Amino acid sequence: MSDPSRAEDLVSGLCSGLRHRMLYFEGHPEVRTCSDQVARALHALLGESGKDLFFLGAAHGRLLHEGRYLIGSTILGRRLVELLQRLHSGGLLLRAGLEAAEVAALFEVSVLTRGPTEGLEASRALLRERNVRHIELSPPYEDVGWFGQFLYDRDEGGGVPAGGDAELAPIYQSLFDTVDVTHGRAASGTQIDVDGARGTIERLLGAANGSFTDILRLVRYPDYDAYTVGHSVRVALLSVMVGQRLGAEPDFLIELGAAGLLHDVGKARIPEAILYKTGPLDADERRTVSQHARLGAQILLEQRGASPLAVAAAFGHHLRNDRRGYPETRPWAVSHRVTSLIQVCDVFEALTAVRPYKPALTPRCAYEIMLSESGSYDPGALRAFVSALGLYPPGSRVQLSGGERALVLAAGDDLARPLVQITHAASGDEIPVADRPVLDLGSPQAARISVANLLLESRAAA
Ligand SMILES: [Fe+2]
Ligand SMILES: [Fe+2]
Repeated sequence: MSDPSRAEDLVSGLCSGLRHRMLYFEGHPEVRTCSDQVARALHALLGESGKDLFFLGAAHGRLLHEGRYLIGSTILGRRLVELLQRLHSGGLLLRAGLEAAEVAALFEVSVLTRGPTEGLEASRALLRERNVRHIELSPPYEDVGWFGQFLYDRDEGGGVPAGGDAELAPIYQSLFDTVDVTHGRAASGTQIDVDGARGTIERLLGAANGSFTDILRLVRYPDYDAYTVGHSVRVALLSVMVGQRLGAEPDFLIELGAAGLLHDVGKARIPEAILYKTGPLDADERRTVSQHARLGAQILLEQRGASPLAVAAAFGHHLRNDRRGYPETRPWAVSHRVTSLIQVCDVFEALTAVRPYKPALTPRCAYEIMLSESGSYDPGALRAFVSALGLYPPGSRVQLSGGERALVLAAGDDLARPLVQITHAASGDEIPVADRPVLDLGSPQAARISVANLLLESRAAA
């Protein structure tokens, strides 16, 4: 797989270039910077991967790369998706040798075509006339079998299979957008749509229909966006899932999920240079970051309709059970169980996610760390979390002792023996979807079979 940060550079250069060209004249430094960025990112990407082309697709109004939706890039990506629609194209094929001037020519075509062209051939002619030789417009994917196949075949490794989650992927996207927009508004001091956050969680609960296997596959999606946004979405999903496992009522789950989405909203007021610093923070910087809990609660208190639970979670999610952590409180203050649960999800997410400065840990390693400092967490919240997820969280891919590969469907009573569906035979051959056997590793019939390995995405391996 390509280096995600370079792919992100390339996509963001394209999208920002389109936006700048709408605002500025041809050859404006802002536009030129973006053209250069795209050409440079492509060169680096192809150099690393040994390939000679990079494909960026668009389908169902969203951008795709390597068979997966680029979740989180919607707001930025919309202009590119719209351009491809006007050009009757399903994606851009960028070839080795691409020059910044060719990217600039694509930006020109975008301002020239305010409405749809006469067809794909007419669009291709527009690029040819401008001597663009290293950008090729692909046909819309509905027209070509191989692309559809490509989408459905690439669901290994925990990404969002672009073909399979037609209902859930847009909900994940709207969770993402909710956090993204909320943080943007909090940064600029405008009102936050707290009810919108509740509405998104409500739709999630409706779509998930009681099954969190698919949702958790989304949780494991290695996102291309600022990780605070993906982090908040994953914390919300994990909290809702554990809450549901504990038998909480839908109304409570909605408040819990909204509190998860908003728990780090105070980070919107922390300078990005500190928030996204890849090296270690000094004492002053750590103090600044720790302000986000108090700031988040303050921001939420100023909003119409923010629930006390969300305010409490924003304020207290770094306050440990043994009273270490921050912000400072009175010794008699206790955390609400929503705050305790969000805190456990917060730490687990941070440990198991990839960060610029660290790889992901497996859930087992994360549990070991958390259990070793168990005084930090509310024991009930930690127990509920571990029993809901198990050692192999639903949605993860595992290798069985016999060599078969399987998808985990649910945690079992024995944390190491989940319910799984076998997707690949020991020979490595994929089993057709309709024939995949479901196996309860907790049942006596499966006593001789165990999980040998948790399969992680290569870039996320511990
Ligand atoms: Fe936080
Ligand atoms: Fe957090």
